[in-house]
Amino acid sequence: MNVNLNQTITAFGLGLWLAGASCIASAADAGDGEAIVKARCTSCHNLEKLKVYASRSPEDKRVAKWEKFLPSHNLPKADERAAVIAWLVDFTKTP
Ligand code: HEC
Repeated sequence: MNVNLNQTITAFGLGLWLAGASCIASAADAGDGEAIVKARCTSCHNLEKLKVYASRSPEDKRVAKWEKFLPSHNLPKADERAAVIAWLVDFTKTP
C-alpha cells in the first residue's frame, strides 16, 4: 500500500517535470516559427505571398537580410525572430 502510493507520487512528479521540460525545449524551434507567422503575419501576406516576398533576395543573402529587416517588421523579440528565420529558411528553400 505504502509502496504503491509512493510510486504514484513519484510518477506524478516525473510527469510534471517532463511536461515542464518539453515546454522549455520547444520554446524556440522552427515549429514555433510557423505558429508565430500564422498567428501574427498572415493578416498582411498569406503564406504564398510571404514566400514570394521572402524569396526575392538570393538564397545565401536572405538570413542576413531578415536579421536586419524583421526587428522593425513586427518581430522585435530575438528568440521569436530566431524561430521565424529558422522556419523561413526551410520554407523558402529551393528543392
Ligand atoms: C501590417 C502588414 C504586415 C504584417 C503584420 C507583416 N508584414 Fe511582412 N511584409 C508586409 C509587406 C507590405 C511586405 C512587402 C514589402 C515590400 O514590398 O518590400 C512584407 C514583406 C515581408 C518579407 C520579405 C522581406 C524581403 O526579403 O524583402 C518578410 C520576410 C516578411 N514580410 C515577414 C513578416 C513576418 C515574419 C511577419 C510577422 C511577424 C510579418 N512579415 C508581418 C506587410 C506586413
